[in-house]
Amino acid sequence: MKALILAGGKGVRLKPLTNTMAKSLLPVANKPILFYVLEQIKEAGISDIGIIISPETGHYIREFVGNGSKWDVDITYISQVNPGGLAHAVKTAETFLGDSPFLMFLGDNLIHGGIKAFVDEFQSNLPNALILLKKVADARSFGVAELDADGKVTKLVEKPKVPKSDLAMVGVYLFKPDIHLAISKIKPSARGELEITDAIQQLIDDGKTVHSHILEGWWLDTGKKDDLLEANRVVLDDFLKRDIRGKIDTASKISGRVYIGENCVIENCIIRGPVSIAENCQISNSCILPFTSIGEGTIIKKSSIGHSVIIGKCRITNIEQLSDSIIGLESEIIKEDNGFKNLSLFVGDNCKVVM
Ligand code: DAU
Repeated sequence: MKALILAGGKGVRLKPLTNTMAKSLLPVANKPILFYVLEQIKEAGISDIGIIISPETGHYIREFVGNGSKWDVDITYISQVNPGGLAHAVKTAETFLGDSPFLMFLGDNLIHGGIKAFVDEFQSNLPNALILLKKVADARSFGVAELDADGKVTKLVEKPKVPKSDLAMVGVYLFKPDIHLAISKIKPSARGELEITDAIQQLIDDGKTVHSHILEGWWLDTGKKDDLLEANRVVLDDFLKRDIRGKIDTASKISGRVYIGENCVIENCIIRGPVSIAENCQISNSCILPFTSIGEGTIIKKSSIGHSVIIGKCRITNIEQLSDSIIGLESEIIKEDNGFKNLSLFVGDNCKVVM
């Protein structure tokens, strides 16, 4: 059994962060999303892993993941020059996949409780495909499945304007190699992509067995800003343990589940968990409120921050109330103490500033 992780694409909905970073490397609770994916694949017993990368951001992924020895897995990088859709990515990986059954995992999806149970279920029943579904409030931005009274998948539609069910397709799929023939039969969708949803529909039309499993735990698709903040909130809430390694002065009050990394210096602060602060941060005269992750090497002075992701190496000074924010690598947010109310901005491409 092999695994294919899709970490290519352009990450349009997360610009400007994806101008200089692959979407799947964005941190959730101070760990790249792709690392959670790799851990779950390894836990499911799969060690032969292909990663689809794009020419724009592939080098970041190679740098972060390397040869996979950190997870004791073998990594093969597969470059997809144009993001022609999820089924196009499978086509691009055909040489790597050969005639092996495989797990396909979208590199921006996070799943509670891992995927081992589904891999085991697939290996014992051996359907042509096994898909995961999750009930959602608004299914319009996903692949949507219709099931009959016995729970059998009857129809799959990619991003329907009027969904006929509330069952969204999760970005984790298991396939026998006949998915390749199904992909060869489909045409690009209205958005110009070869959709994996259409290829699975093709399997159904060809009379093959497509099983489905409805997820009970949380599923997070980190495709947009609010999704990333929500993923950070849920993961901090579920997994974070109190672990304080840095130096905290006696004036500081740390309550709840707070992680503070090595070489951090915390002076005269209030920190209320769940909060994760990575290594080498200096935080003084500040208040860090729940559901905040602060990336490595960040300096915060006289500020209050809550429900936010600070990616790393940032400087934040004199900001009274920063919330619901994602701050990119090496950014500076500083309010000068000169009594004036004017704003002096130096903001990069595709940024959004809401006052
Ligand atoms: O997240 C679940 C949804 O993922 C499913 O419900 C949909 O049926 C499925 O089509 C997919 O929809 P998205 O529009 O969210 O897919 P997105 O374009 O964001 O791509 C998902 C991941 O795959 C992302 O990490 C980038 C990568 N990718 C994408 C394309 C189009 C590639 O590696 N190559 C590609 O050509």
